[in-house]
Amino acid sequence: MTPKVAVVYHSRRGTMRALAEAAAEGARAYGAQVRLLGVADDKAISEWPEPEAAPEDMLWADGLVLAAPTYFGNPSSPFKRFLESTSPLWAQGLLADRIVTGLTASTCLHGGREGTLLALYQSVYHWGAWALGPEPSSAEAMAMGGNPYGLAVTSARDGAVGEAELAAAWSAGHRLAATTAQVQRAARADDAGGRARVTVVHCAEDETVRMLAQECAAGARELGAEVRLRRLAGPAAPRAAGLPGPMSGAPAAAVVTADDVAWADSLLFGARVRSGALAASLLGFLQSLEPETGPGPLAGKPASGFACTPRPHAGSESALLALNNVLHHGGAVVVPPGYTDPAVFAAGGNPYGTSHPRSAGALPTAQALAAARHQGRRIALAGGRLRREPALAAVTSDTPLEKEVI
Ligand SMILES: Cc1cc2nc3c(=O)[nH]c(=O)nc-3n(C[C@H](O)[C@H](O)[C@H](O)COP(=O)(O)O)c2cc1C
Repeated sequence: MTPKVAVVYHSRRGTMRALAEAAAEGARAYGAQVRLLGVADDKAISEWPEPEAAPEDMLWADGLVLAAPTYFGNPSSPFKRFLESTSPLWAQGLLADRIVTGLTASTCLHGGREGTLLALYQSVYHWGAWALGPEPSSAEAMAMGGNPYGLAVTSARDGAVGEAELAAAWSAGHRLAATTAQVQRAARADDAGGRARVTVVHCAEDETVRMLAQECAAGARELGAEVRLRRLAGPAAPRAAGLPGPMSGAPAAAVVTADDVAWADSLLFGARVRSGALAASLLGFLQSLEPETGPGPLAGKPASGFACTPRPHAGSESALLALNNVLHHGGAVVVPPGYTDPAVFAAGGNPYGTSHPRSAGALPTAQALAAARHQGRRIALAGGRLRREPALAAVTSDTPLEKEVI
C-alpha cells in the first residue's frame, strides 16, 4: 500500500517552500502519494502555485511533513492557525497516530529554531501524533548541525537554499515516507500490535511512580507484549503496607541496564518530578546510553514518559516535554498518549504522558492508573508497528487499512 504524505508549508521568501518541495520529492522517491500544500497567510500574498492546505488533508495523510518558518522562536502564526483549524477533527479523535516530522528555517543560527520544531510537535502531540526526528548521526543531520528534533536551516534574505539543505529536506521526506509505510505494513499484517517487547523503567524512590509503571506494564501485556519492568538504581522506596491491587507484595523490579533498552521495541520512562525536571536518576541513565558514535539503543523506537509531581502544576507537562527532548537525542520516535482515550481526559487530560499530582493522594487515583494502562497499550502497539517488517505475503492490496485511535 502506498503511504500518503502531506507536506504543509508556510513561506514568504521561499526558504520553507524550497525545503517543502525537496521533502515532497524525497517522499515521492520512496513511492509515497504526496500532497504539497501551502497554508493561508493573511499578511502576504502567496506567490506559490500549490493548493491551500485544509484540515481534511490531515485526515487524508498518514504521514506529515510540517514546514513552518521560525517567527519569534515559534512556528509562524499562519502555520499555527492552520494547525488550530484541525480542532474539529482532533475533537473526534481522527488525527491520532499520524507520523510527523518538522522542518524550519530562521535567520539566526540560534534564533529559536529548536523551539519551533518542539512547538510543532507539542501541538500535534494533542492529536496523538508520533514525532520523528532525523536518522541519528546521519550525514545529512550532522551536516545541518546535528539537530535531533527535525531539520532546521539558516535562511537567506533572497530565500535561496543550498544543496546540502535541500538534500537534508529530501532525506527527511524520504525517511518520513519509509517510516509511515513500515507502520502501515505492520498494521495490516498484525492489527493487535502484539508480541512487541516493551521495557518500562521507573525511578526507585517513588512508590506512586512504581504503581504507574506497573499499570503501564499491565496495559502493554494486555496487547500480548513481552514486558520488562525495571527500576533505576538508587535506594528503593520502602514498601507501603496494604497497598491496593497488584503492587501489594510484588517483588522489587530488577535494576535497568542498557541491555533492557536494546532488547525493547518500545519503552516508557517514569519518574518523580523535582524542581520542574524528572528525577536525576532517570536523566543520568538516559544520558549514559548515548554512544560515542553511531545510533544508540533508543534509535527508532517509540517511547514516552509518565510522572508524579508534588502539585498539579509542578512540572507535570514541562518535565515530560523535556523528557521528550532527551528521547529525541537518543533517536527515539516520541509516541505520547495524546487525547486518544477518555482515560486521558479523566486523569487530568495530560496529552504528553500520564501524570499524577501527589497532592491528590500518595497513591495514584483510579483515573491515573487507567491512563497509565492506556499509555502502556499504546506504546506496545507502536512498538509492534515499528519493530519489524512483516511478511509482505500477508499484505494484499485490497486489505483495508483502518485509521484507528489507540
Ligand atoms: C515576524 C517574523 C519573526 C521572525 N522571528 C525570527 C526569530 O525569532 N529568529 C530568527 O532567527 N529569525 C526570525 N525571523 C526570520 C524568519 O525565520 C525567516 O525570514 C524565515 O525562516 C524565512 O522563511 P521563508 O523564506 O520561507 O519566508 C522572523 C521573521 C518574521 C517575518
